[in-house]
Amino acid sequence: MAKNSVPEHVAIVMDGNGRWASKRFLPRIAGHKQGVESLKRCAKACEVRGIRVLTVFAFSSENWQRPADEVSGLMDLFAMALGREVAQLHADGVQLRFIGERQGLSPRVLTGIEQAETTTAQNQRLVLNVCFNYGGRWDIVQAAAQLQAKNIPANEDNLSQAMALAHVPDPDLVVRTGAEQRISNFLLWQSAYSEFYFSDKLWPDFDETSLDLALSTYAQRQRRFGKTSHQLDAADSAHQVA
Ligand code: IPE
Ligand code: IPE
Ligand code: MG
Repeated sequence: MAKNSVPEHVAIVMDGNGRWASKRFLPRIAGHKQGVESLKRCAKACEVRGIRVLTVFAFSSENWQRPADEVSGLMDLFAMALGREVAQLHADGVQLRFIGERQGLSPRVLTGIEQAETTTAQNQRLVLNVCFNYGGRWDIVQAAAQLQAKNIPANEDNLSQAMALAHVPDPDLVVRTGAEQRISNFLLWQSAYSEFYFSDKLWPDFDETSLDLALSTYAQRQRRFGKTSHQLDAADSAHQVA
């Protein structure tokens, strides 16, 4: 019997764009472009399946260390994708949020981010958090600094509320594509009790079937949150009797 229903919040490390392009003798940026198409398909599929929140890792604090032409290509692609895709996302009821350090981003990117957030702020079908210039360590540090500046005690609740994803529940499922099994400074705080799923698919190849496989694997997991299986099974059968 399935143990979990559809996750409320899915988070994805969209990895493998560069390898997808290299396999086709294309420049890496072609893989990133295809990655945008894959994200659009995935957001749609999440909406259809009743997932309420999708959080994706688009550019990490560490990705600045890539060759300058790849970094500038990614910035251009991001700004262009914002200009091109927001109207359709808005029509589909998607609320866009951009998570990460804004300092250091170009005025063009910042304007795109602000316009996209303002346009889609009231949408409720799917919250799409795009982590851009984001690192889990950055988030913990900025949250702690906020509390310190306001003289608020640093406990779990206060820190959680100061974190950049305070507007959504913690992710139920964290997916990483691209055959790597590491967190790479993604949601360090928020993934404390997430289920992890690793896919060998390169991000541009991650389609509805791949998503369904991740979801059905998730459905079979027992989330114990520190308890024993016995405790959870007993609570389940009490629930079924009632
Ligand atoms: C993920 O794909 C996208 C970003 C990090 C921006 P990669 O660019 O890391 O692709 P691979 O891992 O080199 O194949
Ligand atoms: C993680 O992928 C960041 C994003 C997907 C945006 P990377 O490709 O940068 O991760 P590492 O460097 O292989 O750990
Ligand atoms: Mg990578």
